[in-house]
Amino acid sequence: MKPLFRVLVVDDEPLTLQLVVESLTVEGYDVQIVSSGAEAISASQKNDFDVVITDLAMPGMGGMEVLAHFTEHHPDTFVVVVTGYGTIETAVGAMKRGAFDYLAKPANLDELLFTLKRAQEIRSLKDENVLLRTQIQEQHRFDRIIGQSQLMQSLYHMIRRVAKSHSTVLIMGESGTGKELIANAIHYHSERKDNTFVPINCGAIPEELLESELFGHERGAFTGALRERRGRFELAHGGTILLDEIGEMSPKLQVKLLRFLQEKKFQRLGGSRTIEVDVRILAATNKNLERAVAASEFREDLFYRLNVIPIIVPPLREREGDIPLLVDHFLRQHCQKKELSLKRISKSALDVLERYNWPGNVRELENVIERLVIMTEDGEIEVDDLPQRIRAYQESGIKHLEIGEAGISLKDTLDDLEKRLILEALQKAGGVKNKAAKLLGLNRTTLIEKLKKKGIVCPDGVA
Ligand SMILES: Nc1ncnc2c1ncn2[C@@H]1O[C@H](COP(=O)(O)OP(=O)(O)OP(=O)(O)O)[C@@H](O)[C@H]1O
Ligand SMILES: [Mg+2]
Repeated sequence: MKPLFRVLVVDDEPLTLQLVVESLTVEGYDVQIVSSGAEAISASQKNDFDVVITDLAMPGMGGMEVLAHFTEHHPDTFVVVVTGYGTIETAVGAMKRGAFDYLAKPANLDELLFTLKRAQEIRSLKDENVLLRTQIQEQHRFDRIIGQSQLMQSLYHMIRRVAKSHSTVLIMGESGTGKELIANAIHYHSERKDNTFVPINCGAIPEELLESELFGHERGAFTGALRERRGRFELAHGGTILLDEIGEMSPKLQVKLLRFLQEKKFQRLGGSRTIEVDVRILAATNKNLERAVAASEFREDLFYRLNVIPIIVPPLREREGDIPLLVDHFLRQHCQKKELSLKRISKSALDVLERYNWPGNVRELENVIERLVIMTEDGEIEVDDLPQRIRAYQESGIKHLEIGEAGISLKDTLDDLEKRLILEALQKAGGVKNKAAKLLGLNRTTLIEKLKKKGIVCPDGVA
């Protein structure tokens, strides 16, 4: 992979460096040469450099002044000074003033390459730090995805296949189904796994900020842009970016993103230099993007660019047999985290969890288990320990309703549901209509009207 490293060489006798420059270019560095300190300053105003290699003794503005300029205005740039024979003290002085390294003349190519490599390593550590600070960790790997259901098996198969390609993937699924986890798994199963995985939540950041988060900005690009800043696309160079909650992106940014997807090039905010990066794009959303396109909320051309390979993550309620595995996993995880001995769950409580429809999917299940771990005394977790909504769900007997591809008839579905609930209430009330009406929050006459209309006969024949 080509390092995205820009080097500025400052020397009043550039010819002596010709060979070095050529070799650096061959190594893939992007090198610019200037022949005076003043030119170096003006070059730094147009572009930003990762490394500046400056001669110390130059007519006019000397290397020390160049160093002072960069440490003050471009603190992220590494400055390497080149000194003539016998001026080692000056070199030490330069190091004290913030130079990254010094090289003796005539510059030795191997030494120079070594210095550049070191600078690159430190830069990538710094970049990683930036990422860590925003709490991005490569915590989640494939083996962290729990589930053995048919649906999950096909998903694993899909992840493995997709990981091998470079195509853009659009991950769709309800909230909490594990879209981010899956994006992670794709990255860590791809050739890019040794480079960074950079997620960014497009829904959580205001538009202007998001633009500079993604594309970076130059110093002074806007009020408060005191320093230049690399965007996430640059940080993800060689790796993978996850554009999470892509459905929330503003129309203006959609246009900019589309342009980037087409050209793989962009400019930082307030900058004129074109930056080219090699980044694999993953996008995730819990919105129905096709519907958003139809409603003109999402650009159709961008949708097609992103939806090269669609991955649909199934909701938890459809993953047969996975709930006990997940419960076990989260019990272990949270007991361990809190340094508690492992808690168990009773069979009947587990049954209730299995019957619930989990609108918040795995995230909701994880939260419930975490709470149970904290709230319950020692011993087995029982039905009574479960949150009310989950127990109530079971009691109401309402099974999950879903609108399939073919659609539903709302009226028929509601009629059917009403009938089932009335029957259940009657059963619970032992056929006593007064009681059944109470259970349903109706008055007796309304219930009787409904029974007549629906032709319902009391289960045990009691009037
Ligand atoms: N199959 C799974 N196995 C283990 N943990 C999972 C699984 N799926 C999701 N999780 C966990 O559930 C939580 C939610 O997952 P994630 O953030 O990936 O969901 P999401 O689909 O991105 O949700 P949202 O749309 O709300 O952003 C995370 O803590 C994740 O680790
Ligand atoms: Mg998410």
